[in-house]
Amino acid sequence: MPAFDQLIRDVPDFPKPGVVFKDIGPLLADPIGFASCITALVAPWRDVPVDAVCGIESRGFIFGSAMALAMQTGFVPLRKVGKLPPPTIGVDYDLEYGSARLEIGAQGLPAGARVLLIDDVLATGGTLDAGRRLLEQAGARVIGAGVVIEIDALAGRKRWPEAIPLRALLHC
Ligand code: PRP
Ligand code: MG
Repeated sequence: MPAFDQLIRDVPDFPKPGVVFKDIGPLLADPIGFASCITALVAPWRDVPVDAVCGIESRGFIFGSAMALAMQTGFVPLRKVGKLPPPTIGVDYDLEYGSARLEIGAQGLPAGARVLLIDDVLATGGTLDAGRRLLEQAGARVIGAGVVIEIDALAGRKRWPEAIPLRALLHC
């Protein structure tokens, strides 16, 4: 078990009753823990050509941008609706209650760019699926995805194509 496992705090009933929030704050604040987490996130892709790392707003920005630095690639943010100037490309997706939209700058990636999609948590899988669809709509090639935590009971992986590698550092 990697050391950074101990640095993620379970917070019951946040942000609403019945939800156990995974607080990554202590992990980010720990220099060795954060560095070892980024090293582990990068490791599976060491021999894979990657043009850009794409992180999903907001917590995916933290891990994705650090990975981009480590991998010497660019970083492309997938943002929540209304944050990016036009032109943008967007996809809608369902949340447990209501819906949301992710957007990317229309000029953010060259056609056929090989990209990694990064987020902090895979729960129901709706967010990561939306990120993949958005990148594909933008003309990029999603060659893999990475998350720090996968909540196995929510089976989000079932929404992800088996043909694209999806790496999770921790399972709970
Ligand atoms: C959380 C988490 C993932 C997503 C996972 O983000 O950071 O992005 O939910 O859930 P899913 O697999 O069920 O889609 P949230 O939308 O709460 O926003 P944040 O990252 O801005 O806090
Ligand atoms: Mg998020």
